[in-house]
Amino acid sequence: MASRKRRRSPVLFPAAGLGAAAIARTAFRALRRLNLHGRVVIITGGARGLGLLLAEEFGRCGARVAITGRDAEALDRAARRLRTLGVEVHAAACDLGDRAAAEAFIDGVVRAFGRIDVLVNNAGVIQVAPMQDLRVEELDEAMRSNYWSAVHATLRALPHLQKQGREGRVVNIVSIGGRVALPHLLGYNASKFAMMGFSETIQAELSRGGADGPRVTTVIPGPMRTGSIYNAEFGGDEPREFGWFGLASSLPIATIDARRAARRVVAAAREGRGEVKLGLSAHLLSWAHGVAPQTTVRLMGWVNALLPKPQGTTGTTRGRDLRAPAQRSVLLRPSNEAARRNNEAPPEQAR
Ligand SMILES: NC(=O)c1ccc[n+]([C@@H]2O[C@H](COP(=O)([O-])OP(=O)(O)OC[C@H]3O[C@@H](n4cnc5c(N)ncnc54)[C@H](OP(=O)(O)O)[C@@H]3O)[C@@H](O)[C@H]2O)c1
Repeated sequence: MASRKRRRSPVLFPAAGLGAAAIARTAFRALRRLNLHGRVVIITGGARGLGLLLAEEFGRCGARVAITGRDAEALDRAARRLRTLGVEVHAAACDLGDRAAAEAFIDGVVRAFGRIDVLVNNAGVIQVAPMQDLRVEELDEAMRSNYWSAVHATLRALPHLQKQGREGRVVNIVSIGGRVALPHLLGYNASKFAMMGFSETIQAELSRGGADGPRVTTVIPGPMRTGSIYNAEFGGDEPREFGWFGLASSLPIATIDARRAARRVVAAAREGRGEVKLGLSAHLLSWAHGVAPQTTVRLMGWVNALLPKPQGTTGTTRGRDLRAPAQRSVLLRPSNEAARRNNEAPPEQAR
């Protein structure tokens, strides 16, 4: 009988290789997944928005959580909500941009819980306005709340995190604004670029090249539907700035659901992943900036031409105090619902 040679498909071997690599990666991640039961997790800015959802997710995994923010009433509402879910909570109001206050907060967590396993640097502010309509005070506030808050908290918590060796975790919630300079967000971008540098440097020094220190995760979200537009500050043509930014923070395909984002951050922290990007726009813009940085800057210039013009005004207004027509738009419904769910406004103000 003549022997027949069976011809194998040329895509079979690469496909099998990719499949095996995916299985090996999943197994490797499962092996190094941190058991959060009884661990102490600090979430800065845990009073509302993504931070509150992170506190809930860590709490569901059995962690004890410590949260902070400047608004004591919002923090109290968040702590009560977490306790009703059965989460053990330490909540203390503080301005993390103030070094002494940030250090006192971290020391208070150690007194309350005796240890620190995970630090999530999530606190942040955002001001939306053309650069001409922002004052130095606003740029300074962005650096204090977005960058220095993370620096103060991390440096004070580090000796405690280092006691956990490779099981310690620092999670830095940066932003696509820390990779690509988005127009009308000068203070935000500059502070998030600084935070990106901080995050990648401590990652290199603590957890790479065989170092035995805590794992550092840099999180790069694109727009998320947290509802934080009501706590963002708007300058220049305030109602129109609110309009475009609100829309960009609400459109379902362009934005990521905040609860989903929180789950992905917790999973990445548990696995000690180095970087996680959240949402399509974070992936696309990071890729574009990596491949063609100057073209991306030019593209942002064209986007800028479509945005409201500078007004020669100074000072900003909080989204919740604006009463802009766009706030009633059906297009902003996802953000409005998220604001209600995520403690973004006092109950009597929540839309
Ligand atoms: N939402 C998005 O689309 C998006 C996209 C990319 C990245 N991010 C980043 O994700 C993080 C969370 O965003 P979010 O939308 O959830 O914002 P959010 O709802 O405005 O929450 C920010 C939290 O940080 C706290 N905070 C701000 N400055 C502080 C300070 N100096 N000291 C202590 N606490 C401070 C706020 O509380 P107080 O105001 O009471 O102090 C609040 O609890 C931020 O770092 C943000 O930049 C958000």
